[in-house]
Amino acid sequence: RSTSLVLIFASVWLVLGCGGPQSTLDPAGRGAEQIAELFWWLVAVSILIWLLVVGLAVYAGWIRPGVHHYRKANLLIIGGGAVFPTLALAVYLSYGLALMPGLLAPAPEDSLKITVSGEQWWWRVRYHPPSGEPIELANEIRLPVGEPVDLFLASPDVIHSFWIPSLTGKMDMVPGRVNRLTLEATKTGVYHGVCAEYCGTAHALMKFHVVVMEPEAFAAWLEHQARPASRPKKMAARGQELFLIHGCSACHTVRGLPANGRVGPDLTHVGSRVSLGAGILPNDPTAFLRWVAHTEELKPGVHMPEFGMLPKEDLQALAIFLEGLE
Ligand code: CUA
Repeated sequence: RSTSLVLIFASVWLVLGCGGPQSTLDPAGRGAEQIAELFWWLVAVSILIWLLVVGLAVYAGWIRPGVHHYRKANLLIIGGGAVFPTLALAVYLSYGLALMPGLLAPAPEDSLKITVSGEQWWWRVRYHPPSGEPIELANEIRLPVGEPVDLFLASPDVIHSFWIPSLTGKMDMVPGRVNRLTLEATKTGVYHGVCAEYCGTAHALMKFHVVVMEPEAFAAWLEHQARPASRPKKMAARGQELFLIHGCSACHTVRGLPANGRVGPDLTHVGSRVSLGAGILPNDPTAFLRWVAHTEELKPGVHMPEFGMLPKEDLQALAIFLEGLE
């Protein structure tokens, strides 16, 4: 019995530890709140059933051992083994199904619309403001707090799955289809997103950050992202030159420069992002240098070639240029 108690306390303690920026049980969005509520109901009822079963076992084994009521036993087997589980699961199913319309309802017509494309192994993000051109960035999504947003999820290569555990449930990204996921963040903060479907070698390294901001700050951020890259500071001019000479622009776009590549992430404001390499490195000059020089080591299978053969000072100049793209 003491072992059981230890197990219960250990489980409760483990579950209470499930907080932080990537936890379904620490919701910061409408969808995640409903999912967390469903989870806690499941846990509570499961504990009650567990106590009932253990109680009956204790009764039969220790309190009234050796007493057999065959007629009642049959009743117990049919009731407890078939009728009760069917009823309990039906109740759960109805509860879960009742949540679906709310979780799947689209945002109002004039809400923010964002297209997210899962690509091996990063995220192409495109905002569609009501007026003006779409704005593209990568591996980061910023959202205004308290406003429902429609995300349109796609993939050009294999199946990925888009999941921000703190905000709502996950949704697959299937080549040839566009799936809509509506979410509404309820708390400002920085949350983690992941790919939740095995999609090749670097699946585990396909992450992103979600920054939930006050609406005014969000509007200012989006307006900044719409602008072309600012002119490089003096120190970064050499890096910009190297960026163009070495053909980085064949794969990457930097708006404002003759760099219109569409294969890899748009780098116009890469220096303003929370992380590098799709959520695997911090955003600082050292990380930029490591990424450019040791791409394959940091993300095995990645489609970007690495430039470790360049002299150290060229790598440093490139890192300064990229970091300066704020
Ligand atoms: Cu993309 Cu796993």
